[in-house]
Amino acid sequence: MENLTGRVDTYFRTRTRGQKGIIRDLIMTEDAHHDITLCDNDYLNLVHHPHILAAQIEDLKSSAGRGAVYSPLFLSRETMNPHTQLEDDLGAWYGKDCYLAQSGYAANVGLMHALCLPGTNVYADMFVHMSFYDGLAARKVRLHRCQLNDAADMEDKIRQHGPGLILVESLYSVSGDFAPLVDMVRLRNEYGCLLVVDESHSLGVYGAKGLVHLHGLQDEVDYVTASLAKAFSTRAGVVFGRHGLFVKEHSFPNIFSSALLRNDIVRIRAAWEVICDADDRRARLLDVSRRLRSELGEVSRLASVSGTLPSPIVSLCADDEEQMARLHRHLSKKGILGAPFFPPATSPKHPVLRLTVHANIRQEDVRRIVEGVASFYAITARLV
Ligand SMILES: Cc1ncc(COP(=O)(O)O)c(C=O)c1O
Repeated sequence: MENLTGRVDTYFRTRTRGQKGIIRDLIMTEDAHHDITLCDNDYLNLVHHPHILAAQIEDLKSSAGRGAVYSPLFLSRETMNPHTQLEDDLGAWYGKDCYLAQSGYAANVGLMHALCLPGTNVYADMFVHMSFYDGLAARKVRLHRCQLNDAADMEDKIRQHGPGLILVESLYSVSGDFAPLVDMVRLRNEYGCLLVVDESHSLGVYGAKGLVHLHGLQDEVDYVTASLAKAFSTRAGVVFGRHGLFVKEHSFPNIFSSALLRNDIVRIRAAWEVICDADDRRARLLDVSRRLRSELGEVSRLASVSGTLPSPIVSLCADDEEQMARLHRHLSKKGILGAPFFPPATSPKHPVLRLTVHANIRQEDVRRIVEGVASFYAITARLV
């Protein structure tokens, strides 16, 4: 306990200048009214979509039966239920086995439990989500972290250590950069690796089925995972891939944690229906993403993005946490709410304020965001 007390003291001394904890010192804004919300990942603006809400309300009012208030392991296909029915339907749509997890985090942790053994070589892009590392830690794998989007670095490591599991995100959640999926598929094929792509930020955004499908790579990607707390605006995760039953039955979250509620399942199905028919929302989202990046690029320093596709994640780079927190508060006072990212989500030297675009951001909002950011840098320049 001595040790813990020391760690707590160090935390407050070094990580929180005002002694109020990082949440208060870096994240909290004054009680301003925020009419431009850029801090979540509801890309298609579906959180209050009438079709989705109506489906949930109807289900809650109906007496159609109990959901599963126990481990999803006991949901058998023989007694068809909304959960397994939805897995079957989503799997048929996507063209792979599908299993639903309680969150994107649980999906990634569970998939790592299923695919890895002690000593398995894992080639992970250094920016993949923390949930993968959590799952890998339980399996004592041989982890080789690779430079961001650096296929040559990954190839060197595979040559040196042998085939294994490749982990990437199609669209990185902090920087908004895209993975070189075609290069990753080449490595998978040439060296006999398994390829896992986390599509949390792209499923439903680049076509209903995400970037792997958009690039026609679905037959050469072994597993696609996603949080459904992004474009699907709900609370769940999904894994698409081969040997669905094996994966499910080796995932600890699937065995030892309770299933999604029936009303969650109803919400996912309704959101999926909307997403399949949301080309107009996707077009608006990508159009405004392109405009915001281009205009902000002229007045600030942005995390760079490769390729030609517009990215809805626009991250403003800050010199340090203090500057990031000041930028965050400056925008907040103007009614614009971003998401601060700092350790452990980033390295200490590269905190960012992430602005996530959604389909209802209008041209006048873009103008206000750009003016807000520009005025911050004008003040900062005067102070230097
Ligand atoms: C790339 C990525 N994967 C997984 C997750 C975890 O998703 P969830 O919030 O559904 O647990 C996130 C969430 O931030 C994410 O950004």
